[in-house]
Amino acid sequence: MAQKNNDEQFKNVISHAKEYGFVFQSSEIYDGLSAVYDYGQLGAELKNNIKTYWWKAMVQMHENIVGIDSAIFMHPKVWKASGHVDGFNDPMIDNKDSKKRYRADQLLENKIDELYSELATFGAENKTKFEEFQQEILGLSDEGQAAWIPSFKDETTILDRAKYPFVDETSWRFVKKGLALEVEMNLALKSENLAQLKDLIVDYKVICPISKTSNWTDVRQFNLMFSTQFGAMAEGSDEVYLRPETAQGIFVNFLNVQKSGRMKIPFGIAQIGKAFRNEVIARQFIMRMREFEQMEMQFFVRPGEDKKWFEYWKEARLKWHKALGTSPDKYRYHDHVKLAHYANAATDIEFEFPFGFKEVEGIHSRTDFDLKQHEKFSGKKLQYFDNDLNEEGKPYGNYVPYVIETSIGLDRMFLLTMINAFEEQDLSTEDKQDSRTLLRLHPALAPYKVAVFPLTKKDGLPEKAREIMDTLKFDFNCIYEEKDAIGKRYRRQDAVGTPFCLTVDHQSLEDNTVTIRHRDSMEQERVAIADLAGIIGKATSWKNLLA
Ligand code: GAP
Repeated sequence: MAQKNNDEQFKNVISHAKEYGFVFQSSEIYDGLSAVYDYGQLGAELKNNIKTYWWKAMVQMHENIVGIDSAIFMHPKVWKASGHVDGFNDPMIDNKDSKKRYRADQLLENKIDELYSELATFGAENKTKFEEFQQEILGLSDEGQAAWIPSFKDETTILDRAKYPFVDETSWRFVKKGLALEVEMNLALKSENLAQLKDLIVDYKVICPISKTSNWTDVRQFNLMFSTQFGAMAEGSDEVYLRPETAQGIFVNFLNVQKSGRMKIPFGIAQIGKAFRNEVIARQFIMRMREFEQMEMQFFVRPGEDKKWFEYWKEARLKWHKALGTSPDKYRYHDHVKLAHYANAATDIEFEFPFGFKEVEGIHSRTDFDLKQHEKFSGKKLQYFDNDLNEEGKPYGNYVPYVIETSIGLDRMFLLTMINAFEEQDLSTEDKQDSRTLLRLHPALAPYKVAVFPLTKKDGLPEKAREIMDTLKFDFNCIYEEKDAIGKRYRRQDAVGTPFCLTVDHQSLEDNTVTIRHRDSMEQERVAIADLAGIIGKATSWKNLLA
C-alpha cells in the first residue's frame, strides 16, 4: 500500500511538473528523446535558484573557494588520463528473445533485492544483526570475502539458532543466498570478470522482465561517454568526448587558478555545468538522464590532511541540504565499503525518494590521483609550493595536493526539491469539499516570490497593482494576474510555490495598504505598501539559508 502511495505521489509530481511549466520531455512533439528533458519557464527559475544557493554557499561564503566555467569539450587525452576511456563502462547483456538490453549488475542487484526481501520476516532486532554481519563480510579483503561464498551457497548450512532464535529456516536460506550473490557480484565487477557476471545471471536464474526467458547474450562492456567529431586534431584523431563529469575541467585548470588567483592551500575550485553520459538504463524521470548538470567542487589540501577535510565536507554538505528545512530522517549517509582505485574514502548523501533512498551527492577523497595522472599524460608539473612551516620548522615545499571532491547532481536536487515540496491538502469543511495542491518550497528557492492581483479589472486597481509590481520587480521575481476569482488565483500560486500574494482593492487606493496572503498558513493581513519590500525581503533572503 505504502509503495502504491509512493508510486502515485511520484506520478503526481511528474504530471504537476509538466502541467505548471517546470519540466517537459525533450522534443515532445516528436514523441520525446529518451532520458533527455527540458526545463520550462518555472523549472528554469527554480533550477537557477538552486544553483544560486549552491554557488553562494560554496563559493561566495568561502574566501578560499573560487568558481570557474570550463568548456564541455576537452582534449581527448584528458579522458585517457582520468581513466574514463578505459574504465567508464557499464557491463551490458541482451536478452535474445525480447532484444532488450540491461545492465548486468542491475539485473543482479534486482535479484539480490528479491532474495533480501525475506529480511522483512526477520523482525527488527534480527534484521539489524544480519545487516551488521553483512557489513562485516563486505568490509573484508577480496580473499576474505571469497572464502565465505561456499558456506553461504551451501543449502545445508545450519542456521545459527543461538544468534537468530526466531528466524524462519526458508527465509534464512534466501537471505544467505542474497549475501552470496552480493559478494560474488562485487568480486566479479571489481575484477571485470564479464564471463563470471554472465554465469551469475544464469546460475541465479535471472529472467528478462519482458520475454520472461533466460536466453542471454554474453556480457560486454559499454562505454558511457558520448563522442563526436571535432576538426582536424594534431595526432590525426578527430574524436572528442562530451564531458561525463565537470571535475576534469577543474583539475586541468588547477595551476591556472592557483597562480592567477594567488590561492593558498587549502583552497577549492567549484563549477556548475552540463555533463553527458550515455546511460543505458535511463529511468525515474530526471533522476538518471543522458544530459544533466553537476555542481562540483574540488578542494585541494596538504597530503595527510585529506581525512580531516573529508570529514569537514561530509558534514558541511549535509548541513547545506538540511538548511532547506527537510526532515532530517529523509537523509542518510552511505559510506562506500568498496572504494574506487583512486579514492581513500567516499560517501554518498542519500535522500529518501518515493522509490527508496538514492544518491543525490557524492563526497570523495580522491587522493592525488587525478593531478598525478594529468602530470603523467600532459608532461606538465601540477605541483604547489607550500611555504608554510611544518612541525620541524621547515617549509612543506613542493607537492601534488590531495583532493576532496563534493559532487551533486543539480537535476536530482531539483527532483528532490519538487518531491519534498509537493503536498495535496484536503481543506474540506462540514459544508464544503475543498482541496489544494501546494509546493511548499523554501521562499528563497520559489520561482516567484510574490504575485500581485488587482481585486477587479476596473476602478484603477490594475494601475495601482502594476505600480506596486514596478517597484518590487527590481528585487523580486513577481507575477501579475488579473484573470479569474481571487481564490482561483491563490490556488494557482500555491501550486507553483509563490510564498506571497498581494491583493490590491479599493481601500488600497485610499490608504496605500494591501492584503498580503501567506502561502503555507493561507493567513491574510493588511500591510502598508511601503512595508512590502521589507516583509518579502526578510522571508526570501539567502541569509535564512546561509547564516
Ligand atoms: N566527479 C564525480 C562524479 O561525477 P558521480 O557519482 O558519477 O561522481 C555525481 O556523479 C552526481 O551526479 C551524482 O551524485 C548524481 O547526483 C549526479 N548524476 C550522475 N549521473 C547522473 C545522471 N545520469 N543523471 C542525473 N544525475 C546524475
